[in-house]
Amino acid sequence: MADKTAKLHLNGQNYDLPILSPTKGPNVLDIRKLYGQADVFTYDPGFTSTASCDSTITFIDGDKGELWYRGYPIEQLAAKSCYLEVCYLLLYGELPTEAQMDDFRARVTRHTMVHEQMHNFFRGFRRDAHPMATMVGVVGAMSAFYHDSTDVNDEWQREVAAIRLIAKLPTIAAMAYKYSIGQPFVYPQNDLDYASNFLNMCFSVPAEKYEVNPALARAMDRIFTLHADHEQNASTSTVRLAGSSGANPFACIAAGIACLWGPAHGGANQACLEMLREIGTVDRIPEYIAKAKDKSDPFKLMGFGHRVYKNFDPRATVMKESADEVLDLLGVGDNPTLQVAKELEKIALEDEYFIEKKLYPNVDFYSGIILEAMGFPTSMFTPIFALSRTVGWIAQWKEMIGDPQNKIGRPRQLYVGSDRRDYVDLKAR
Ligand code: CMC
Repeated sequence: MADKTAKLHLNGQNYDLPILSPTKGPNVLDIRKLYGQADVFTYDPGFTSTASCDSTITFIDGDKGELWYRGYPIEQLAAKSCYLEVCYLLLYGELPTEAQMDDFRARVTRHTMVHEQMHNFFRGFRRDAHPMATMVGVVGAMSAFYHDSTDVNDEWQREVAAIRLIAKLPTIAAMAYKYSIGQPFVYPQNDLDYASNFLNMCFSVPAEKYEVNPALARAMDRIFTLHADHEQNASTSTVRLAGSSGANPFACIAAGIACLWGPAHGGANQACLEMLREIGTVDRIPEYIAKAKDKSDPFKLMGFGHRVYKNFDPRATVMKESADEVLDLLGVGDNPTLQVAKELEKIALEDEYFIEKKLYPNVDFYSGIILEAMGFPTSMFTPIFALSRTVGWIAQWKEMIGDPQNKIGRPRQLYVGSDRRDYVDLKAR
């Protein structure tokens, strides 16, 4: 991979840094030997210029606004594929044949139920707990229920854990929701596809027949697909870091869910819809735009901006079309939140501040509007992101564990604290 080197001149010495060439994207300076040779660290808080691993799974070109899973553009997958096929692609690297797809679908479908004793575990939570809080706990607890798939050195166990996580996350998310609203848990149904099954577990009740609307199931499936992976984002890096110590996959995915919850990451879809509701009417938009631009105000326009995309987020383009379709289908196209969202988008895209800083609507700007129209409360938005992203986390975790170069993740620091000093007795201070 390295056919060129960069020269570093430091303290009178010359050091050669290999330049690694990726399939796509900018070249990467290999600094692995730098500390050993030159006794210096590099400094990069937030990893804005640091590649933490090599990966074959997902590629993003932030300037062009492109996202590929295993080389396939997200727009093609969203239009022609389905979430379970995308799961197969992310996990195994290639699109499945028909027989492989049938086998994979059967394996996932047969693992959708959770251990019956897990129901008791749910009941230990307060009713008003946020479903993300419940999910962090329950997914972490899976290692206490499925001991036979926690040995990370056993390939077969890794495979079983992957299937269990992809299959059971919708069940766990739906159970967290049902528990929070005081309704009975709904068991998965194996004759339904992945998205329909999730909708059924969330919205059906024993007292009444519930028919899943196929168009809504398709929209749900597309939301899952758009969130399935996003290379080395905060939660994925959390999963990799947790996994680098040899922690079991359920513990690692629980760590990823905890990280995703933050409003700068997956929590943005909930925060965005709450912001749109708070703005309330189109005439109040300029006030919020001014707040977002005010350096002394911590307020940010939720659903805008991205660390990597400095052009439109390609997921947002697909999500926007989906939002229009779903709202038309449900006859809520004149929904006031959507009106505020559309106007906010228009004004922000014409505003010098947003243009100069390349702040475009991201995937979370539209997903909340669709999910709300489907009947989900805002507290379920991030759990839906979490269940969709589980396959990405697992694919990245499996890639890392299978990599012979895998080492425990251990960043260094620039220490700026006090120099050595002697302890002073309490009474003498
Ligand atoms: N509203 C107003 N100003 C913004 C926004 C925003 N949403 N996002 C960034 N800026 C400004 C920021 O203040 C900074 O200004 P300056 O250069 O004057 O200091 C400049 O733009 C660069 O932003 P940054 O915060 O340095 O960029 P970052 O890469 O560290 O942060 C981000 C990226 C996504 C955390 C941030 O844009 C943000 O907080 N957006 C709102 C939350 C959100 O929608 N998150 C979802 C991301 S997509 C889904 C996911 O991956 O989870």
